[in-house]
Amino acid sequence: MKIFIDTAKLHEIKKALSWGIINGVTTNPSLIKAAVEEEKTTGKKINMEEYIKEICYLVGKNGSVSLEVISLQTEKMVEEAQILFKKFNSIANNIAIKIPIDTFIKGNKIGHYDGLKAISMLSGMNIPINVTLIMTPEQALLAAKAGARYVSPFMARIDNHVREQLNINYMPMDYYDSESEKEIASFKFNKYLENNNKQSIANLYEDKKIKDFVSSNSDKGVYDGVDLVKQIIEILDKYNFKTEVLAASVRNKRQFREVARVGADIITIPFFLFEEILQHPKTEIGIKTFCENVVEEYRELLN
Ligand code: E4P
Repeated sequence: MKIFIDTAKLHEIKKALSWGIINGVTTNPSLIKAAVEEEKTTGKKINMEEYIKEICYLVGKNGSVSLEVISLQTEKMVEEAQILFKKFNSIANNIAIKIPIDTFIKGNKIGHYDGLKAISMLSGMNIPINVTLIMTPEQALLAAKAGARYVSPFMARIDNHVREQLNINYMPMDYYDSESEKEIASFKFNKYLENNNKQSIANLYEDKKIKDFVSSNSDKGVYDGVDLVKQIIEILDKYNFKTEVLAASVRNKRQFREVARVGADIITIPFFLFEEILQHPKTEIGIKTFCENVVEEYRELLN
């Protein structure tokens, strides 16, 4: 599994690259905003072009740097993608352009197909496309058919969506244990069936309470963010798409482990999470004991 870092902050990118395990960088307008605002606190003004060029240079030719367009209409997205690709791909031949799968916003005069058209057009020009804001397996399938190099399912946002449907309180970084939730739901569901066992199948199937049970603990059959990644992998593998699955919107180390188990091609991780992934209380106790137990004879050998 390739590991990307999900940030536009240069100091985080530099530090993460020094660990020797990072294969790329993903950015989006919000991450660029955070980087610009952080630079401003130091009194500096970012020269955006030079700043991004440095990211591309640091990541190098074996990595990947995702840069996102900001318009919503096909023609404009294609134009912006070409500008970004032209400006930055010559640095290290590592640019992927992020296009949202759907740029529809209620009230705007833009339909649902602009993203898809832009993905097809740009892929046809051999510009690698990272399709962003993927929330369903079927969106990923359409993106792959349009020629996407990467599809980025947003895991935390789906976890949050399902928990919000269920009125479950959560903190932003909380792991969502949908397996426990499923057990609770099936226990309550079976109790309800038991109490209504005199009713016909048709009545129970139509029962509003049952319908709510069945629909509220998933996003139309997607139980959590990792499940989204898993279903996308299943579908893309079945038809031998070359599109790589890039698990995005990651909030905790359990998601990291679980997408590795389901075989994601890539995961993009925010900087702060690497520390959480590395640490374990028993590792800390272990290293403390090893340090305490070093004998002089052994220390001398290493001097
Ligand atoms: C990565 O490519 C995405 O832009 C990123 O993971 C965004 O997700 P988030 O804003 O939910 O963290």
